[in-house]
Amino acid sequence: MLLPSHGSNPHYLYQSLQITQPEKIIDFSANINPLGPPPELKERWPDFFDLVNEYPDPRAGMLVNLISKSEELPEDRILVGNGGAELITLVARFLSGRKVLIIQPAFSEYEQACMSSGCRVTYHILEEGDWELRLEPLVPLLEQVDAVFICTPNNPTGVAFKEQSVLKLIKACQKHGVFTIIDEAFHDFLERDFSYASYIKDYSNLLILRSLTKMYAIPGLRLGYLLANPEIISQIKRYRPHWSVNSLALMAGEISLKDKVHVEKTKNLIRQQRYKLNGFYKNNNFIVSDSQVNFYLVRDSKKSDQLPLLRFLLQNGIVPRHTFNFPGLDGKWLRFAVKSERDNERLVEVFRQWRNHH
Ligand SMILES: Cc1ncc(COP(=O)(O)O)c(C=O)c1O
Repeated sequence: MLLPSHGSNPHYLYQSLQITQPEKIIDFSANINPLGPPPELKERWPDFFDLVNEYPDPRAGMLVNLISKSEELPEDRILVGNGGAELITLVARFLSGRKVLIIQPAFSEYEQACMSSGCRVTYHILEEGDWELRLEPLVPLLEQVDAVFICTPNNPTGVAFKEQSVLKLIKACQKHGVFTIIDEAFHDFLERDFSYASYIKDYSNLLILRSLTKMYAIPGLRLGYLLANPEIISQIKRYRPHWSVNSLALMAGEISLKDKVHVEKTKNLIRQQRYKLNGFYKNNNFIVSDSQVNFYLVRDSKKSDQLPLLRFLLQNGIVPRHTFNFPGLDGKWLRFAVKSERDNERLVEVFRQWRNHH
């Protein structure tokens, strides 16, 4: 059974589990804003057609300027990329042949990208349950590596690590000459605006990854950026293919980053929905991760094997993200995006049907 290594494109999951895909499905496997892209992007979309006639700005000048203002960082600390995924690949190239520690469970692309750049990869696996960052077992490992990847708020658990712990990690990494790569792809879903981006001024070994595809619901366009000290940015820039970020993505980024109202509306929706879902799960003997963002992990506390639940959900048109390829989770949990009220209600209905028989 070779399951797909990412969420989205659900037909691959149906194929690999040999389940007939129902006519109507709801895809909870990709963590995309349920409100969709900012309204202005849709309204102005026809105006963008003419952009396909020209090469995109390889420096992404306008977007970099906007990011510089919103992050309060100089432009030479910013690199725009074809989604967070491209930037992860570029960072891995920058780390070529070095020893990399990944704090797991985490987005699988760090390992893939590092392996294909000839890095030696080791893991530090967080304790299942609260998945908090504990420094005592972690700090000694820093002596043996050149870089650490950490994702906070964490994909797949949704847990945002304690600020003090992450800061201690950043400091310890700097002391040992280790690069810290913090993936903040989901930071803009946090209720309290918070980021480690400002620390790049004080910690020359710190790199911050961002994605615009989640909050602004533009995964099909591909857009993200990297924040780091100018030295690192200029080195990583050399690996980037020319024009890797297309004009439509650049335009979408400029419109999206200005729309603060859309972000607030999204956060409100997610908070309300997550609260309701948590109530349901807790009252019905399911265990849920302590997520602070737009996705969470669930398991049926009455079952040791979650595969029958995964199959049941898929047969009933509910598509979760399996967790077989997350070290530390190994299929024992299912991950769901928080979607619209209607979709979440359908999810709860199917979970109730499961509970009625199990
Ligand atoms: C934690 C994390 N980082 C980065 C990415 C890459 O995002 P994108 O390439 O769509 O910007 C993803 C996508 O799922 C992710 O979950």
